[in-house]
Amino acid sequence: MPAPSAIQTAVARPVPPAHAEGERLFNLHCAGCHGVQALGTTKGPPLLSPIYFPNHHSDGAFQVAVQRGVTPHHFNFGPMPPIQGVSPDQVSAITGYVRWLQQQTIIGSGG
Ligand code: HEC
Repeated sequence: MPAPSAIQTAVARPVPPAHAEGERLFNLHCAGCHGVQALGTTKGPPLLSPIYFPNHHSDGAFQVAVQRGVTPHHFNFGPMPPIQGVSPDQVSAITGYVRWLQQQTIIGSGG
């Protein structure tokens, strides 16, 4: 599997209440492919990979990915289908949670 190898450890600290709803929605709609805590699975990449940090993939990229799906261009997992039943506000909540996870990863890796 060609997933990036940099991200191996789960985020240990508790999720802040502000991101509880984003976590719930992420686990419901996204974790099946992107993994618990966005660590990745055999069906989708870890969103904690630095290529998904805000300087490469803006919050708008998350909205577009969910609405239209994704044609594979970074990995060999195949396409991401459009995800039904997730409103733009809910995508914003999910994105907020993923950004928080990304920040924990930066802290956790000492970078
Ligand atoms: C059926 C599996 C699947 C589900 C469910 C899924 N994704 Fe994905 N997602 C993928 C795959 C596969 C890719 C990588 C495509 C590639 O190779 O670039 C991807 C890529 C992405 C990207 C990067 C888009 C880009 O422009 O490169 C974002 C952001 C994303 N997913 C967010 C989400 C969010 C948020 C959810 C939940 C609402 C979600 N995904 C649910 C499979 C999935």
